[in-house]
Amino acid sequence: MRAIVVREFGGKPEAADMPVPEVGPGQVQIQLEAAGVNPFDKRIIDGFLDGKLPHDFPLIPGTDGAGSISAVGAGVNDFEIGDRVVGKFLIPPVGHGTFAEYIVVPRESAIAKLPDEVTAIRAAALPTAGITALDLMHAAGVKGGQKVLIVGASGGVGSYLVQLGALAGAHVLATARPDDTDRMIRLGATEVVNYGRVTVTDSPTHAEDSELSVADSVRMTDPGGIDVLFDLVSPPPVFADNASLVKPGGWAFSTIWSADEADLKARGVQGGNLESSGGAAELRELLRMVGNGDLMVPISNMPPLAEAAEVVGAPGARGKTVLVI
Ligand SMILES: NC(=O)c1ccc[n+]([C@@H]2O[C@H](COP(=O)([O-])OP(=O)(O)OC[C@H]3O[C@@H](n4cnc5c(N)ncnc54)[C@H](OP(=O)(O)O)[C@@H]3O)[C@@H](O)[C@H]2O)c1
Repeated sequence: MRAIVVREFGGKPEAADMPVPEVGPGQVQIQLEAAGVNPFDKRIIDGFLDGKLPHDFPLIPGTDGAGSISAVGAGVNDFEIGDRVVGKFLIPPVGHGTFAEYIVVPRESAIAKLPDEVTAIRAAALPTAGITALDLMHAAGVKGGQKVLIVGASGGVGSYLVQLGALAGAHVLATARPDDTDRMIRLGATEVVNYGRVTVTDSPTHAEDSELSVADSVRMTDPGGIDVLFDLVSPPPVFADNASLVKPGGWAFSTIWSADEADLKARGVQGGNLESSGGAAELRELLRMVGNGDLMVPISNMPPLAEAAEVVGAPGARGKTVLVI
């Protein structure tokens, strides 16, 4: 089968011909049509799980994928050949991922059947980012009228979070580079906080480039503070500055282990570092929302599988990248 592999930790993804994995008892084989790309794929390639889980090389990366069931192992009664499915798969030994034509997974994996109206390509953009966004919303219990700041809003997790926040009736403040401002508004942001280098003009004859801090911008626009911070990108000192905007009793979460949980607690702020734990139930909830039109799947890039090396680990995400298999 066609697949993308790396031959060592830190290796460059390359196209390869690999054996089709065979289905065993309690497993299903999926013929994949599309694989979603996540920052985690690059971290696995770089050895993040080395020493924590066994790995097989050549290693096929990819945790998110969608397609149809192509074989069913003994003892599997709830899936049939031809069922259209999507899933989030990280099954040891690591190295048998979704950047391939076929994958074999245990039936009890995070796997869900697709409603007729959701294509495999759209579905493949959902699992890791969508489930993480839903987990964050559930953890903070976001309510209508609350001010929710999303830092890193323009990427995969953020583009779902902005929509889920707006659906809950929250006042969503979303970070974006200036050229991505309109997309954030269309996704449901109430305010867009620009970051990065911007040109500040303070008189007809004077303009200079300046680096905006998200926290300083929000202090000016929302001096009363915010109720919830979802920070998907900031290192610890920047996270601490952003979290200082949260009112006592509010919530602050980091998805990249930047939160000092003792410090948050001392200020009466709940939350901390969130590790996504959602599975099939959350996937079904997301598919329902996509199927009934409440949630848009924010795909910005759909390269063919052979171009994986160019998109895995690439910065500048604007929603999701999906590899078309
Ligand atoms: N804990 C968990 O369970 C869990 C689950 C899923 C994801 N994650 C992690 O959460 C992070 C976000 O995931 P993702 O899939 O959304 O990543 P992504 O698709 O790569 O999006 C990250 C976004 O953040 C923007 N960004 C970068 N620096 C920024 C800054 N200083 N201020 C504001 N925005 C900035 C990027 O745009 P520019 O590059 O143009 O700035 C990009 O649009 C990743 O590190 C991922 O590994 C953790």
